[in-house]
Amino acid sequence: MNKKFFIKTFGCQMNKNDSSIIAQILQNNGYGCAQDPKNADIFIINTCSVREHAEQRALGYISSLKNWRTKQGRILAVVGCMAKRLADDIAIRFPFVDLILGPDSFRKISDFLDEIYLKNTKIIETSFSGETYCGIYPKRIGVSDFVSIMRGCNNFCSYCIVPYVRGEARSRPMDDIEKEIENLVDNRVKDITLLGQNVNEYSYNKIDFAGLLNTVAKIHGLFRLRFLTSHPKDLNDSIIHAVKMNKNICEWFHLPLQSGSNRILKLMNRHYTKEEYLKLIKKIREEIPDATITTDVIVGFPTETEEEFMETMSIMEEIGFDNAYMYRYSPRKRTKAYEYESLPEQVIKSRLEKLIAFQGEIIIEKAKQMINKKFEVLFESSARHGATRGKTRGNKDVIVEQDICPGEVREVIIKEVKGRTPKGQATF
Ligand code: SAM
Ligand code: SF4
Ligand code: F3S
Repeated sequence: MNKKFFIKTFGCQMNKNDSSIIAQILQNNGYGCAQDPKNADIFIINTCSVREHAEQRALGYISSLKNWRTKQGRILAVVGCMAKRLADDIAIRFPFVDLILGPDSFRKISDFLDEIYLKNTKIIETSFSGETYCGIYPKRIGVSDFVSIMRGCNNFCSYCIVPYVRGEARSRPMDDIEKEIENLVDNRVKDITLLGQNVNEYSYNKIDFAGLLNTVAKIHGLFRLRFLTSHPKDLNDSIIHAVKMNKNICEWFHLPLQSGSNRILKLMNRHYTKEEYLKLIKKIREEIPDATITTDVIVGFPTETEEEFMETMSIMEEIGFDNAYMYRYSPRKRTKAYEYESLPEQVIKSRLEKLIAFQGEIIIEKAKQMINKKFEVLFESSARHGATRGKTRGNKDVIVEQDICPGEVREVIIKEVKGRTPKGQATF
C-alpha cells in the first residue's frame, strides 16, 4: 500500500506554497496524502523563524509529536525556515525527529525518505542551492491560489531573518511561471497571487516585474492577478502602469511601511523616508483612485521613542490603510538589529495595543465607506448559516446571506458592516 504523508504548515504564504510543492513532489513519487495524521506514515512540519513566537509554536508542536512517532514505521520531518536556522538544536532537543530539511532541499525529499526507511538513519540537509522548484506545478483545487515567482531576499532589513534562512534572491524563469499559471487556470483557478519577498525585484533574462505582469496578465482565461509583497523602494511607475492598464490585475498594493520615523527606517535599512513613502501612496492614488493599500508595521524597534512611535500612528492616520499587519519587534540572532538593546517589554506591548486599536477603527471606517457601493465579488467559500464569502478586487472579504457557488462572480451592493466585515447583497 502507498505510504501517506501529512503536512502541518506554520508561517507566511511562501511557506504554504512550499508545502504544496512538497506535497506535489511526494505525490509524483507515489506517496498519498493523509487527511488525518493518525493515518499518516510521514508527518512533515513546515516551520517559520520570522519571530520568536512563531518558533516557540513550532517547537511546541514538534514536542507534541513525540508520541505519534513511537509507532513503528513512522517518520517525522521538520522542514523550512526554522529547520534551516536551528537544525542542530532541533536534532539534539528532539532525537525522535528523523529528517531536517531547509527550504532549498525539498526536491530530494522522497530519496531522503527512502534512505531513512532503508538504513534506519537520520538526515539533516539545509544547504542553499539556488533552487526555484522549476518544473514542479502543484495541482490544487480552489478559486484562488498562489504562484511563487522568486525565492530568497537580498535586502537585509536589519530586523529580518528571511535572507539568512531562505538565501539570496533568485527569480524563476518566466516561461515556467506561465506554465504553472496556465495549469491552474485550466483547473478553474480564477484569482492568482504572484509571490515573493520583494516581487518588485523580479528579474529574469532582462524581464523585470512590470514585464512579467504585462505578459502573465495576457494568459487566456486568467480572471484576476495580484502580487505580494512589494517594497516601497522598488515599486516603480511601470509597475503601477501595468496594474492600471491590465484589466485583470487587481488594484491592491501590499506595501509594508514598517515605521513612520525616518530615523527608525534608516536603522531598519529600509532605503526610503516617510516623505518618499507618502509620495508613492499619492502617486498610486492619483493613477488608480480605487486602489486598496495594505501594510506591515513593526512596533518597538530598538531605540524607538514615544515621539517616533507617534509618527507611525500619525502617518497611518494620514494614509488610512485598508488593512495592516502589526507586529511587536522580535530580536533575531545574526541580524544587525540583534546588536541593539531591546525596549522594555511593557513599552512594546502597550504601543502595539494602542496601534492595533487605532488601526481597527480605520478598518471599520474603510468598510463603512463601502456601504451602498457596488463591488465585483468572486465567491470563494460557504460561510455560516447558508451565507457565502467572497473577495473584491481590492482583496476585501465580503459576505452575502445567499447561497452562491464558489467560483461565481457577482456584483454585490454593500448594505452594512458586521464587526469589520462588509455584508451585502448579490445581484442575479
Ligand atoms: N518581504 C516582505 C516584506 O518585506 O515586507 C515580508 C517579510 S516578513 C515575512 C513579513 C513581515 O514580518 C515584515 O513585513 C515585518 O513587518 C515583519 N517582521 C519581519 N521580521 C520581524 C521581526 N524581527 N520582528 C517583528 N516583525 C518582523
Ligand atoms: Fe525581510 Fe526586508 Fe527581505 Fe522583506 S525585504 S524579507 S522584511 S529582509
Ligand atoms: Fe515566511 Fe517565516 Fe520563512 S515568514 S519566509 S516562513 S521565516
